[in-house]
Amino acid sequence: MPQLPILVAPSLLAADFARLGEEVAAIEAAGADWLHLDVMDGHFVPNISFGPVVLKSLRKLTQMPFDLHLMIAPVDPFLSAFAEAGADHIMFHPEAGPHPHRTLQAIRALNCKAGLVLNPGTPVAHVAPLLDLLDIILVMSVNPGFGGQRFIDSQLARIAELRGIIDASGREIRLEVDGGIDARTAPLCIAAGADTFVAGTAVFGASDYAAAIAAIRQGPA
Ligand code: DX5
Ligand code: ZN
Repeated sequence: MPQLPILVAPSLLAADFARLGEEVAAIEAAGADWLHLDVMDGHFVPNISFGPVVLKSLRKLTQMPFDLHLMIAPVDPFLSAFAEAGADHIMFHPEAGPHPHRTLQAIRALNCKAGLVLNPGTPVAHVAPLLDLLDIILVMSVNPGFGGQRFIDSQLARIAELRGIIDASGREIRLEVDGGIDARTAPLCIAAGADTFVAGTAVFGASDYAAAIAAIRQGPA
């Protein structure tokens, strides 16, 4: 399968929350492909972020697909609220349970793209029985819960392994990476086979959002 175009999904978690609308407009104008939205419940991960009301408010302001990363447990009772609020992709962790296959079916039934998220310590083998229901596999290159953490290099070998699994399946599944992504680490992930990048600090912490997004897409100038 040919390499899919590289996409960049800035993570809202690193934006200025007093100016969310302006921040979303700014990254869209700067060439962002998707808006990555990190939902945390203080239970599945040791941090709390935001819920569907924020998606609903932002939905009116942008055409970018909403790339929703749920770090909550349980997942199933909240799927329809997030779909109604405007999520386009819904991704969750298999540990959030109880039944990942059922959750993927429920996401597809809501007409959203479905994704599974693998923590640095989650076996790659989790994806094998689920490939026919997956649009995205999201590899965490940090442990989930916080922005601004250092990229864990051992995830590169797992990205390469997943690239092989996706290619062998013949399916068009995006291989997305989340955590510590910047102009240095994105090219390492591209070389390993990734095609889609979440970046919080490297985009919203930059003075020039367009240059930061371009550098992740193309590597350092
Ligand atoms: C962490 C989140 C990430 C986070 C990435 O749990 O899933 O999306 O915002 O932030 P950076 O790019 O700063 O590592
Ligand atoms: Zn995320």
